Amino acid sequence: AEADDQLIIDAGQKQFGATVCGSCGMIYSADSLEDNFQHTQFHQSFLDGIKFVGWKKERVVAEFWDGKIILVLPDDPKYAVKKAEDVRRLADNELGFQQVSLRCPSQAKTYLYVNSDGMVVGCLIAEHIRQGFRVLEQPVQTKDMTREDFMEHHRAWCCSTTPEKAICGVSRIWVFSLARRKGIATRMLDTVRNSFVYGSHLTKEEIAFSDPTPDGKLFATKYCEK
Ligand code: ACO
Ligand code: ZN
Repeated sequence: AEADDQLIIDAGQKQFGATVCGSCGMIYSADSLEDNFQHTQFHQSFLDGIKFVGWKKERVVAEFWDGKIILVLPDDPKYAVKKAEDVRRLADNELGFQQVSLRCPSQAKTYLYVNSDGMVVGCLIAEHIRQGFRVLEQPVQTKDMTREDFMEHHRAWCCSTTPEKAICGVSRIWVFSLARRKGIATRMLDTVRNSFVYGSHLTKEEIAFSDPTPDGKLFATKYCEK
């Protein structure tokens, strides 16, 4: 299916002259005045939003060859909390969240992935939760199935009805479009598991994703089977 989608996008790009901006990642039609205007509006505010100048006190929780992960807590200095909010807003904008407030903002932990060019290219928001519902994804044999069986499986595929104990809820995970598929989300989640509860290491089963998008499901499925 992925290859098919790609073909459609490529065909569309040729036809409508779609361009991907190499700095902000926005896909727009360079032939359209309206699109050019929207891109100009978006471009600078996005780059300002993800720009990271460095702080006097940074809670660095992991370091890599291409960047580092900084943890921001609700009681941190204002500039840190504001940066975390700015990045969350950019991520929400892309995810289509209508500026939903967090379940418990006073306890949310924000993990920011800062690359070596001083840009926040990843954001993960984690909250304490008591239980989660597992997304079940067994391959289902639909041949020779009664309608009742089908409905039952379909429902089961969406979500388990039995709550399971979880400790950490991931309410947002976002990676800058031009930095995807480089393991940034994986490294952020590994870091959450090591640092969310002081002095302990969370298993994959103790992490739950809230309302995952299609991208989020593909990533989570892959992450959990590793
Ligand atoms: N399609 C298929 N498989 C994927 C995808 C995808 N879009 N994204 C990740 N995977 C799988 C792959 O197997 C990948 O390994 P591979 O690249 O070696 O094949 C593996 O997951 C690990 O991927 P990462 O590189 O660690 O993930 P990435 O840094 O690209 O970030 C994310 C994934 C966060 C989902 C990113 O695509 C994104 O920001 N998407 C838009 C925002 C979004 O939808 N976020 C999830 C919202 S749900 C929530 O917030 C609770
Ligand atoms: Zn741009």
